[in-house]
Amino acid sequence: MAIFWNILAISIILQRALCGPSYTPVLPPSYPLAVRNPYLSAWLPGNEVRNLPFASARFWNGLNPTWSVIGRVDGRPYSLFGVPLPGPGVQAGVLQSAEYTSTRTTFTVTAGAATFVLDFLSPISPLNCVRQSAPFSYLTVSATSINTSEVQIYSDIDNTWAGQFDEYVQVGWGYSITNDSTSAFTLTPGGTTTFSEYNNTAQWGTSVYCARPNNSTLTATVGSRDAVRAQFAANGSLPGQWKWQYPGVTAYAQDLGKVSKAGINVTFAIGYWRQSAVNYLGDPRTAYFTATCSDPICGCVHVLDDFRAADAEARRFDAAIAGKAESVAGANYKDKRDTFAFVKEISSDGNVNTIDVIYPMAPMLYVLAPGYLRLLLEPIMRYLSSGAWPHTYAVHDLGAAYPNAMGHNNGRAEKMPVEDCGSLLTLIYMYQLATGDKIWAAQYHSLLQGYADYLVSNGLYPTKQLSSDDGLGNIRNQTGLAIKAAIGLNAYGVMTGQRNFSDIGKRFASTLYDEKVGLDLHRTHFTCSQGEDRSWGMMYNPYPDVLLNLSTFPKAAYAMQSSYYPTVRMPGGVPLDSLVGFGKTDWMMFAAATVVAPGVDKVGVRDMFIDDVHAFMANGINAVPFSDKFHLRDDGTIVKGTWSQYKARPVVGGHFAIMALDGPNLFGNGKGGDGARWVQVI
Ligand SMILES: *[C@@H]1O[C@H](CO)[C@@H](O)[C@H](O)[C@H]1NC(C)=O
Ligand SMILES: *[C@@H]1O[C@H](CO)[C@@H](O)[C@H](O)[C@H]1NC(C)=O
Ligand SMILES: *[C@@H]1O[C@H](CO)[C@@H](O)[C@H](O)[C@H]1NC(C)=O
Ligand SMILES: *[C@@H]1O[C@H](CO)[C@@H](O)[C@H](O)[C@H]1NC(C)=O
Ligand SMILES: *[C@@H]1O[C@H](CO)[C@@H](O)[C@H](O)[C@H]1NC(C)=O
Ligand SMILES: *[C@@H]1O[C@H](CO)[C@@H](O)[C@H](O)[C@H]1NC(C)=O
Ligand SMILES: *[C@@H]1O[C@H](CO)[C@@H](O)[C@H](O)[C@H]1NC(C)=O
Ligand SMILES: *[C@@H]1O[C@H](CO)[C@@H](O)[C@H](O)[C@H]1NC(C)=O
Ligand SMILES: *[C@@H]1O[C@H](CO)[C@@H](O)[C@H](O)[C@H]1NC(C)=O
Ligand SMILES: *[C@@H]1O[C@H](CO)[C@@H](O)[C@H](O)[C@H]1NC(C)=O
Repeated sequence: MAIFWNILAISIILQRALCGPSYTPVLPPSYPLAVRNPYLSAWLPGNEVRNLPFASARFWNGLNPTWSVIGRVDGRPYSLFGVPLPGPGVQAGVLQSAEYTSTRTTFTVTAGAATFVLDFLSPISPLNCVRQSAPFSYLTVSATSINTSEVQIYSDIDNTWAGQFDEYVQVGWGYSITNDSTSAFTLTPGGTTTFSEYNNTAQWGTSVYCARPNNSTLTATVGSRDAVRAQFAANGSLPGQWKWQYPGVTAYAQDLGKVSKAGINVTFAIGYWRQSAVNYLGDPRTAYFTATCSDPICGCVHVLDDFRAADAEARRFDAAIAGKAESVAGANYKDKRDTFAFVKEISSDGNVNTIDVIYPMAPMLYVLAPGYLRLLLEPIMRYLSSGAWPHTYAVHDLGAAYPNAMGHNNGRAEKMPVEDCGSLLTLIYMYQLATGDKIWAAQYHSLLQGYADYLVSNGLYPTKQLSSDDGLGNIRNQTGLAIKAAIGLNAYGVMTGQRNFSDIGKRFASTLYDEKVGLDLHRTHFTCSQGEDRSWGMMYNPYPDVLLNLSTFPKAAYAMQSSYYPTVRMPGGVPLDSLVGFGKTDWMMFAAATVVAPGVDKVGVRDMFIDDVHAFMANGINAVPFSDKFHLRDDGTIVKGTWSQYKARPVVGGHFAIMALDGPNLFGNGKGGDGARWVQVI
């Protein structure tokens, strides 16, 4: 037996050597490094991780911010991450493993006698608004050595973190040391305008990189990138010079002294500070975190003080998401009615608080922190209540371009009247059911009743118009929209105790299903467009009917549709509709959850959807922050499984759809659930 295990061990070691690094749980399209908000969004493409020492961090849209780590072991320098052009004498470390969870990415790199672990942590804190809104991520570098080695660690960033990309831009740098020995470098773009973007980077605010000596000797320098790195390579310390020279860096070196197997860690915090974060109807709003700290240097002190707790919470969070733990942390959230949340429609069009983006991301909020549904909807409801929006249907979004949430007083928002009325009513009921808070929505009932009335008049046979999938264009009599209207009306009726609205919703459902207005002649599927028998679509709108136990449609309707999906699957999955060759992962997961509605229970069909999304994620041919839209068949030069459009979008919150069936509020005092019904999608 012992021999067997030894052989097994040797073969595993050999495989390691032959096959290179190990990837846990899989090699993803892109690793999150520092991802906290639309401007602090640095990633590492999966296809570059093997060459980590030479690879650059990547802003979600493809720009390359400079962020490097170099280790020095017994006088010999090793590039570990982000050094495309190592100077003379600098060897590259060797990646041994790469791992990610919901909150962190961990790379293990060997360098001579030492092993360095680069641990990139972007905390998630569902119930703690201070921690959740802190615009910082952490990089912890831990060093161990099989010998007792002298180890120094170096890290730098540059002007790209402040959204400035060439030689001629003005960047103001600053360096300060607080009375508790926290060092903070700041980089601030010059001559730019508050609330303006360039190529999706913020052109106002301050990027900040901080460190503490923490029993090591900390040195710092501002200077020309190659010269500063060469100084570290030669000396293991930095000379404390302060002259910005393009291409320049702000750099730290930490001398850890003797490092053995026990190991020593150093933690950096990287942030992007916007004193005014979002422009809400002309009122500059600050981050919740700003109530704790009103400048980036105080922010550094706070987040470094908070590291241990944030790190511990993140580990509990990951365990809970993996179904291994029950709850996370106590709430640290004063329920101020004036707290808002804002979300950017990253990579599609940059809209702010788009209703048809909040709708697909809602399952994640329902599971993790349903209070965020209200925080996202409240600024919309206040705007609609002001009367500035001139139409009788709900607005599509709060502003065409984040961070300017200026509403659309001229009435010219993207027009999706049934989509937005139906989604809004459904989302508000979802919030109410998950939290038990009936007071919040009550203040808006007359406004909401107007949207319900709109659906009564316009929901069953929608005019030619857009749905959330606006890329498909204006389509007449969309069955999916009529389904959404039926469920939205029922949700509104249940929420307000007005049966007449529920009855109308159920009558719509009966017309669509029993009278076949929304079906093909042979009752095999819902059509995409009423009366067009051969059309079909991914039916994601029934999902809230199941999640919220509304029973607008009979189980037989969902059973019918569940049986249909496998018959129209392409090699890579079920497409969005009968005319296209691409799929949407968020809607696939909505459909996957709907097919396991109580009494429908098509577990095999659910697993088909999950396997298709998983195969897309793990196929190794994509290198962007996870895309929710991908090709399902080979087509000319396009290969099945290639991402088609979109990156890093909030709609991937829809991947929580199955998990949400176990109940809301996993981390609060909600029901949670036993995880028996959902399947983890890694
Ligand atoms: C924005 O950045 C992307 C990614 O680097 C680049 O392809 C594109 O040309 C840039 N656009 C502008 C207007 O600079
Ligand atoms: C560890 O130290 C010993 C003795 O100083 C040396 O011979 C050996 O090369 C070192 N190992 C590594 C991997 O550096
Ligand atoms: C050092 O960092 C590693 C990797 O993140 C972690 O496993 C370990 O617990 C840390 N040790 C200390 C003392 O913080
Ligand atoms: C350190 O600075 C902080 C913030 O400026 C201040 O509140 C605190 O009293 C200072 N502590 C000492 C020991 O000076
Ligand atoms: C620094 O080292 C001293 C002595 O080993 C130890 O007592 C102290 O806790 C250390 N401080 C930190 C921040 O690690
Ligand atoms: C290394 O440090 C010494 C002493 O501080 C200094 O004289 C020397 O110039 C440094 N070397 C480099 C390459 O920076
Ligand atoms: C300080 O050192 C401890 C022990 O190695 C480590 O856990 C912690 O992350 C370090 N903190 C900072 C700010 O470097
Ligand atoms: C939608 O269907 C209804 C009922 O079949 C029909 O009267 C109406 O003309 C259709 N609308 C459009 C825009 O085709
Ligand atoms: C539903 O009933 C309420 C009163 O109970 C009434 O105000 C409302 O107009 C009715 N709506 C519809 C669509 O029937
Ligand atoms: C769903 O609603 C039905 C009544 O419509 C009720 O009998 C059932 O218990 C509810 N199920 C859940 C899980 O709440």
